[in-house]
Formats: sequence, structure tokens, C-alpha cells
Amino acid sequence: MRGGTQEITDLILNAKERAIKETSHEPEPELTQPQKWPINCTVGPGLEGAIACETKVGYVNGAKGWLIYRGYNIFDLCAYSTFEEVSYLLLHGLLPTATQLEAFKKKLVQYAHIPYTKRLLLSFPVEKMNPMAVLRLGTSFMRQEFTDVESEDYIADTVRIINADEDSIPMETKPMGEEHAIYEFRREEREKKIRDELKGAGGDESCHHLLAGVASVMAAAARLRAGGYPLEPDPELSFAANLLYMMNGKVPSPLEERIMDVALILHADHGMNASTFASMVVASTLSDIYLSVGAGIAALQGPLHGGANEKVIEMFHEIGTEAQVKAWFEKKRAAKEKIMGFGHRVYKAYDPRARVLAPLAEYMSNKSPEGKKMFGIAKALENEVVSTLGSEKKIFPNVDFYSGIVYTCMGIAPEFFTPIFAVSRVAGWTARVQEYLKNNRIFRPRAMYLGAFDKEYTPLEQRGNEKKD
Ligand code: CMC
Repeated sequence: MRGGTQEITDLILNAKERAIKETSHEPEPELTQPQKWPINCTVGPGLEGAIACETKVGYVNGAKGWLIYRGYNIFDLCAYSTFEEVSYLLLHGLLPTATQLEAFKKKLVQYAHIPYTKRLLLSFPVEKMNPMAVLRLGTSFMRQEFTDVESEDYIADTVRIINADEDSIPMETKPMGEEHAIYEFRREEREKKIRDELKGAGGDESCHHLLAGVASVMAAAARLRAGGYPLEPDPELSFAANLLYMMNGKVPSPLEERIMDVALILHADHGMNASTFASMVVASTLSDIYLSVGAGIAALQGPLHGGANEKVIEMFHEIGTEAQVKAWFEKKRAAKEKIMGFGHRVYKAYDPRARVLAPLAEYMSNKSPEGKKMFGIAKALENEVVSTLGSEKKIFPNVDFYSGIVYTCMGIAPEFFTPIFAVSRVAGWTARVQEYLKNNRIFRPRAMYLGAFDKEYTPLEQRGNEKKD
């Protein structure tokens, strides 16, 4: 057990025990066995209830409030695993052996070096941009930097042009010595090897590249926003620790590393959510995995999806104090406004991710007055919402309700909450895209046409008096 983190494991295992106790009476849902296509299912607006594909990647049991990745429940993965193991599991279907894990970790550190992508980012006003927009740009630049999906000559040109200007652009690169050198020594040779591995932008290597590279882009955006320069990863650190190190320039404590690791595990996959579906739709056209992940990032940004975590913190500020929670909630409820961080399309029980994040938020908030105040507001709001909307409409806290408090206590700015979600979700997006492409069929649902038929074309000079349908 890594130093100082046993308490975190205990909190997670307690959450698991409570989840089992409170939800074991719920029946198992149907449709976890192979079905014969076409499938009969009831579909609501927004494709609610629609079954679009078969998967072995992960499963959300909305009635019980259970989340499973490749057969393993989320509580056990949070308690015993790491993000590297979990992303390997999602992508490759099995937990890695020690040798496989070592090779995978090495690869992630190697792929986290995206020097030209970072330099291209420096030519944009990154510090003023929404970090999710920076992530989208970053995935396109990584595609341009390392793959041959566009003209090969063009890539070579990009590399040469930027190489020529290399010394004029400051980079904070930690000297690491030949043994761990990824960037400084034999760079051309290494980069050629990487470009060979990533040719075509479609295989497992491209998924690994995105997993590592999106984290680097996110950290670079954080550094640039804070007035610093991007940092290179430290090969001695885990994925979670490197993420924090590249964002802050400070190696995190074992506790911070562990909390980030758990947060990454919790966000890695979640059924056919909007961003996963968006990335699969793009992939189903036989576009490539970089563009698919870019689509996932775009979909995740919205406040009804990943963007809710940032809005939750704004909401806590708006509420002000714990004493004002009741009045604030009554007003919102009367106005039928949605409360950020609550409700879910699939969960009609307590979201298991919130079950883990709530005690972590409490644990972390005890270490900071701002966190303590936020946690007080959050708990009071949860009580109000659950005691009213919980029984009426089965609305409970979701993953975004407590994650912001955890990140705030770690000194992470709200605009990076959703990007951290994206970094982790690259694992789920890529795993599901790879799986879907094995039996690809282009997505093409239908719409119900409610418009007019048989209108007579109106010449330009006679228009202006028509009514819209
Ligand atoms: N606060 C108050 N009422 C709510 C909420 C909420 N957060 N969520 C749903 N409801 C009510 C809604 O008003 C509706 O009531 P009625 O039947 O009287 O019209 C009913 O519950 C069903 O809501 P819906 O919007 O039709 O449900 P949905 O399945 O389409 O939406 C949701 C799911 C997540 C978009 C929605 O619950 C929501 O907008 N929540 C707030 C935003 C949020 O926290 N999003 C993060 C989701 S979890 C992370 C992720 O997957 O990205």
C-alpha cells in the first residue's frame, strides 16, 4: 500500500459496503445476455432506451447504482487498482500482467512527449481559451504530428518548420539522463519509431498515444494559463502523479496522487453516454481515432454532461453559506430549475461514483477552510434534494456533485475539472471505439418528420407573409 493512503482505501471499501446493503434488493435488469438483432426496445427522445451496439467494455446498472468495467466493480478498482491498470483493462480486456503493465507505463510516458503539438499550441492564446477547446486543438495537432493520415509531405514540412524554430521557443525540460531519456537523446530516431507505430491513426498504439497525449495537452494548458511553460513528464511518476506534476510543477504527495488516481479511475468509462456516443458516431464513418476523441471532448464540454462539475462550484458560490441552502433550493425548485450535479439519465439510484467521491470530498475538505465550507453546503443541499426530488423523481447526486470539492481542495482551478474528466474518459472512448469498429456499422438513426408536405415554392418577391410551421 502506498504511504498515507490506507484511509482512502478504507473510505472506498466502506462506500462499497453501503452500496451493497442499500441496493441489493433491486432486481437485475434484462439485456445482459446476447440478443438477436433487430432488438425490440422502447426508445424515448434523445435515444433514451435505445440499444445501439453490444459491448463487453463496461456496464451501468441504473437501478442498483452499480458500475462495472470489464466485469470488475468500480469500488474494487478504486480500492485496489491504478489508472494505468484500469485503462489497460478497458482497452485490452484483461488486467495486465506485471510485464505488460511495466511496458504499458513506459509507453504512456514515451507518448506523453508531444513537443511539436505543444509548440503549435504556443502559437494560440491558450491562456485565454477554454481548456476543453485547447484539448480539441491538441488532439488535431497530435494527429498531424505523429500520423500519416494527411499527406506525408505536409507532416514532414510541419516537423521541419517547427524544428528550425525550436530554440526560440522556451520549454521547461527536466534533464533526466540517457537512461530515462525520451526527448533529449536520439530524438529523431525515437520520433520516427513513434510515427511508424502510429501510422494510420487507428490501432491500439494510437489509443495509447491519445491517453498519454491528451493528459500532456491538458497540463500544458494549465501551465500556460498560470503564466508558466509546459513541462515534460517525469518517467519516475505514475500517470496520476505526472498529471499533477505537469500541471503544477510540483510532485504531489502520495495522498494527492492517490486521490487523483481514484478520480481518474471513476471517470474512465460510463456506458453509452453522450461523449462516448459522439466519439463512436465519428468513428463509425471510418474517420480516425484522433477525430473521434476530439468529438468526445466537444460533447463532454456541455453543462448537462462533463461541464456540470464546474457549474457545481459556481452554484456553491451562488448559495453562499450552509444556512442559505434551504431557501436557495426552495426557490430553484419552485422555478423548476435543474440543480447541477444531480440526476442522471441511467441512474435512478445513488451514483456509485458519488458514493466514492462524497467521503473523499469530506476527507479532503477537513484540510482546507474553503473546502470545509463547500462540503457543508454540499451536504445540506444533498439532504434537501434527496428528501424531496429523491423520492419524487429518483434524483440523487451524480459524479459531478462532489468531484469539484475534491479538486478544489487539491488546488485545481474549476476550469480544469472537465478537462481532467476528459483525460480519464479517453480510456473509455478509445476502448469502445476499438470494440465497435470490429463490427462496424455506420450510425444512422431516424427523426420523426413533423413538418409540412407539398408546399408550393414561393418566388423571392412574394415572400414575407408565410407562417413558420
Ligand atoms: N435538478 C432538478 N430536477 C431534475 C434534475 C436536476 N438536476 N435532473 C432531472 N430533473 C427532473 C427534470 O426536471 C424532469 O422533471 P419533470 O419530469 O417534472 O419534467 C425529470 O427530472 C427528468 O429529467 P430529464 O432532464 O428529462 O432527465 P434526463 O435523463 O434527460 O437528464 C441529466 C439527465 C443528467 C441531463 C439531468 O439530470 C440534468 O440536467 N442534471 C443536471 C446536470 C448534471 O449534473 N449533469 C451531469 C450528469 S452526470 C455526468 C455525466 O454523465 O456527464
